[in-house]
Amino acid sequence: MKSNFSRIIFIHCHLYLWPFMTIVLTLDCAKGEYNRQGCALSTNISPNSFSRDGDFTFGGILQICVHTSKENQDFSQEPEPAACIVPSLQYLRHVIAFIYAIEEINNSAGILPNITLGFQVYDACTSEVIALLSSFSILSERPEPVLNFICQKRQRTVAFIGHMSSSVSHTIAGITQLYRYPQLNQYLKNVHLRTSSGTLFHFDENGNIPGMFDILNWNVYPNGTITRTEVGSFLISRVPQLLINDSRITWNPHFHQTPFSMCTLPCTYGFRTAHQRGKAPCCFDCIPCPDGEIANVTNPSRGHKRLHRHLKK
Ligand SMILES: *[C@@H]1O[C@H](CO)[C@@H](O)[C@H](O)[C@H]1NC(C)=O
Ligand SMILES: *[C@@H]1O[C@H](CO)[C@@H](O)[C@H](O)[C@H]1NC(C)=O
Ligand SMILES: *[C@@H]1O[C@H](CO)[C@@H](O)[C@H](O)[C@H]1NC(C)=O
Ligand SMILES: *[C@@H]1O[C@H](CO)[C@@H](O)[C@H](O)[C@H]1NC(C)=O
Ligand SMILES: *[C@@H]1O[C@H](CO)[C@@H](O)[C@H](O)[C@H]1NC(C)=O
Repeated sequence: MKSNFSRIIFIHCHLYLWPFMTIVLTLDCAKGEYNRQGCALSTNISPNSFSRDGDFTFGGILQICVHTSKENQDFSQEPEPAACIVPSLQYLRHVIAFIYAIEEINNSAGILPNITLGFQVYDACTSEVIALLSSFSILSERPEPVLNFICQKRQRTVAFIGHMSSSVSHTIAGITQLYRYPQLNQYLKNVHLRTSSGTLFHFDENGNIPGMFDILNWNVYPNGTITRTEVGSFLISRVPQLLINDSRITWNPHFHQTPFSMCTLPCTYGFRTAHQRGKAPCCFDCIPCPDGEIANVTNPSRGHKRLHRHLKK
């Protein structure tokens, strides 16, 4: 997914409109092959990134990896380059949600007709240094940033999505505010869109997630192909509705059967359920029925008293 920026032959670098300037200075800093020695920021850090072109792009500096490799900062020698290590599936979901939202808007005929949206996502893990470099990369629209220059024919980045950590977000905001970019921590308020399954949904006035979710099956193949199949939906209403079409799910071949997803197995005869305080209703303990009571069904919430009396006779 990484764009191959080195294929760009003609590059016009546009000097940014500084907040205090009233005119745009346009400078042809490089014609022909891009000259790296010329004006690129010299760095040996290369953040993980994903990008897709579009008429307008969203910059996202997010967290995919959990840790930053040890940054040597005793100033007695050149610090080792910071790198993000240990990717987290939990954080990867934020990236997937970000890309998914952009794709849904892009593919919706009703929201931005005839405009394609793209994105540039950088993994800053927990590092302010990498977040800073990533901000410049997004603004320069190339992985090797050129400070104050856009290395495309025109600027396409329209907004930034911030990082979870406030110190990293603060670093990003310091740069993006300078260039008057909106930073969207809570984005897409009052957007109405139609999902690929044809369901209309919207974010409420607080920008909260709607009550309807598509359930997607993502598969990452060894050859790098990623597929996304809609396998069901979840509707939050007074009576929540979960629909899943099992036959559409492709499981990892390591699973020999559909993985079992149940908090607690049903209580057997003679045991009753006891709800675990603060847990979902499907999580319970199975405790033996008191003396003189029986349970003739699985998962009763109580034993049968009527039989109790009967047994006493
Ligand atoms: C947006 O839509 C265009 C055309 O429909 C497509 O080529 C492009 O890959 C899409 N981009 C994203 C981010 O979904
Ligand atoms: C989008 O492009 C199509 C084909 O060029 C055109 O017919 C249509 O009017 C355009 N829609 C808008 C809203 O510009
Ligand atoms: C990658 O592998 C999957 C599953 O084997 C296959 O369906 C797909 O066509 C492959 N893609 C490419 C580009 O070879
Ligand atoms: C489930 O998915 C299969 C395969 O796409 C399709 O043939 C079938 O009609 C679907 N079933 C329902 C109830 O939607
Ligand atoms: C269990 O016992 C109760 C009380 O006698 C009875 O109403 C109910 O039908 C029984 N259920 C089953 C599954 O046998």
